[in-house]
Amino acid sequence: MAILVTGGAGYIGSHTVVELLQKGEEVIVIDNFSNSKREALEAIKSITGKEFKFYELDYLNREALEKVFEENPQIDSVLNFAGFKAVGESVKKPIEYYTNNISGALVLLDTMRKYQVKKFVFSSSATVYGEPERIPLTEDCKTGGTTNPYGTTKLYIEQILKDIYMSDSTWDIAILRYFNPVGAHESGLIGEEPQGVPNNLMPYVVRVAAGILPELSVFGNDYDTPDGTGIRDYIHVVDLAKGHLKALEKLEKEKQGLFIYNLGTGMGYSVLDMVKAFEKATGKKVAYKIAPRREGDIATCYSNPEKAERELHWKAEKTLEDMCKDSWNFIKKKQG
Ligand code: UD1
Repeated sequence: MAILVTGGAGYIGSHTVVELLQKGEEVIVIDNFSNSKREALEAIKSITGKEFKFYELDYLNREALEKVFEENPQIDSVLNFAGFKAVGESVKKPIEYYTNNISGALVLLDTMRKYQVKKFVFSSSATVYGEPERIPLTEDCKTGGTTNPYGTTKLYIEQILKDIYMSDSTWDIAILRYFNPVGAHESGLIGEEPQGVPNNLMPYVVRVAAGILPELSVFGNDYDTPDGTGIRDYIHVVDLAKGHLKALEKLEKEKQGLFIYNLGTGMGYSVLDMVKAFEKATGKKVAYKIAPRREGDIATCYSNPEKAERELHWKAEKTLEDMCKDSWNFIKKKQG
């Protein structure tokens, strides 16, 4: 039995492939390197000491994708990390986002159906909750009200998956709603490498500490939070990767169903908490200034992760210090 991983060279995909290989699973990776680098594949091999099959292809290319299933009849489940994920870019390029994320998912799901592979784990996001109905967020909170095409693709694909399951209950689907993934593998060999100036907080903080960027802009200090800055649920990418293995185990056990889980720590930290935690963990100073709020941001967003703990026997284990140290270690290694 093998697991097909789309986008396996990317940030979350590569960490998940490492965990799968370390568990002894057979993994087949596809990626078109649109937002990842070939080196990540070598890094995965050197971390794990294991080999895996790799296909360079775009998952929208149905013919090429079918060939992968044709050549590997042992595939029995699919993890999809091939979505685009930059919020700002999605506002500028909605057609590209809807095409890659939604059409890509549809081609993949249709191909899976053709080859009778019906176990699917989908990378969703806390962004589907829009303005949170209540905090902490549980999986039954209302969804909708996304503020950008990226978020809307996540919402629509969740709906598509629910409709597919309604039409054919032999599907076995896990929707994982990620909170804010940060950090890197402790080896420092794989991590997040956003192209250009990062939009997300942690990659920005790391670059200020490394002297690549002059200072962090803290987007708003007048939110209704203890220090006025936005609160989020930061989760170490390795914990997140492990959540996918637990989700696969659940699908294996249940045989059929559609399950939704929050993957977060359940802890909320403000922007200034993050700056302080980073400085403490690394001994580096992070220069910052207070700037206006960023459009589309909400004050507070963190999870109630109890459902995943109860049903998947998964719980985030890494600390904020691990997240900061590992992010720093990764960029230091890159800088040489
Ligand atoms: C963002 C996306 C979300 C996506 C997630 C992971 C938005 C509105 N949401 O979440 O859909 O799933 O990334 O890719 O973009 N901050 C600063 N200065 C910075 C960067 C961020 O103060 O330079 C603050 C933000 O205002 C926020 C917090 O840091 O309060 C976290 O921001 P970010 O890392 O961009 O994540 P989210 O906005 O939570």
